Amino acid sequence: MNRDDFNILKSGVIYFDNGATTLKPKILGEAVADYYDNYSSNAHRGDYTLSLKASEKYEETRVLVKDLINAHKMSEIAFTSGTTDSINKIVFGYFKYFLNDGDEVLLTKSEHASNLLPWFELASLKNLKISYIELDSNHEVLIENVKRAITDKTKVISIAHISNVVGDIRPVKEIIRLAHEYGILVLLDGAQSVPHLKVDVQDLDVDFLAFSAHKMCGPTGVGVLYGKESLLNDIRPIIFGGGMNADFNTAGERIYKSMPERLEAGTPNVAGVIGFGFVIKYLMGIGFDNIHRYELELKHYLVKRLKEIKEVTIYNAHSESGIVTINYDGIFPQDLSIYLDKYNICTRAGNHCAKILKDELHIKNTCRISLYFYNSKEEIDKLITALKNPNIKKEII
Ligand code: ALA
Repeated sequence: MNRDDFNILKSGVIYFDNGATTLKPKILGEAVADYYDNYSSNAHRGDYTLSLKASEKYEETRVLVKDLINAHKMSEIAFTSGTTDSINKIVFGYFKYFLNDGDEVLLTKSEHASNLLPWFELASLKNLKISYIELDSNHEVLIENVKRAITDKTKVISIAHISNVVGDIRPVKEIIRLAHEYGILVLLDGAQSVPHLKVDVQDLDVDFLAFSAHKMCGPTGVGVLYGKESLLNDIRPIIFGGGMNADFNTAGERIYKSMPERLEAGTPNVAGVIGFGFVIKYLMGIGFDNIHRYELELKHYLVKRLKEIKEVTIYNAHSESGIVTINYDGIFPQDLSIYLDKYNICTRAGNHCAKILKDELHIKNTCRISLYFYNSKEEIDKLITALKNPNIKKEII
């Protein structure tokens, strides 16, 4: 779909590393260049036309993000540098003050480092207990296992909507409903979901959501932190500086602004946020239901074709997202990725930053093929041809 919108695809590259970051449509470069060429100035800091325009375009993106995730208010959305930054701000700006000695944080072993390490750090600061929801035999999260993992000490569940390795779409609506019955808050890592399907924060009733622009055709260095207004009223900044304070004096007394400015200290990524707005409009024009439907069609085709190759093990044939994780018998995943690169095919090999998932998969590294709407069945056929090459092992040596 929409392949002509991506200049880079004209080079013949087959880009299957969309879980890491996506390609960028022409519209992003044009919007960013327009800002730099025609109204380059700071946002929220100038009383002249250029700066007012930059501020207006910057805030337009906030409206678009609000519509994208169906947030209730603009003040529920802060721009960050990415999912990692958003999660750190929630963990150290909110949960650091909300949680007490002995409280439990519930995670899964298939989380990305960004949704584990901030919690590990906070746990050692505050003597919290980290527990894990057991994964099923497909490495997926079942609501029964969430129920079993909850104790009277559980205060927060922090979970990816879609795992970046296993690609399973977690039953987050049910998880959130269950969590709220027990008075537990839920932080959703939407890095792999918001780009691929409709995520509605009011429908989910999620407490906090984090995601990145660069995984959805947007610029690097831009992310979103969503939180319910009632919770964000209590969030404290972890970065201090210009733009987030209303006043301060020589005695060190200071008054911080309310949301969202409170979390946006320093000059923001004005160009990136403006560019992200154009990309959101672009993706909404395609439609997230269409994107998800098409990715699933591609994923089913990819799995069907991979099954033709007896040397290939698929770890997540059943998951309903565009992430497919494999190994090729007798070939180290990194070598497989380097081999595929000779055919201009980009995949990611390694542990994908989910370093404790190996306890579940019983395998340290894999090769990941992650799809997006601009991929095609023809590209998948080329991958299969490369994997079926009778000389594959010789070419790697
Ligand atoms: N989380 C990114 C990935 O899965 C970096 O590749």
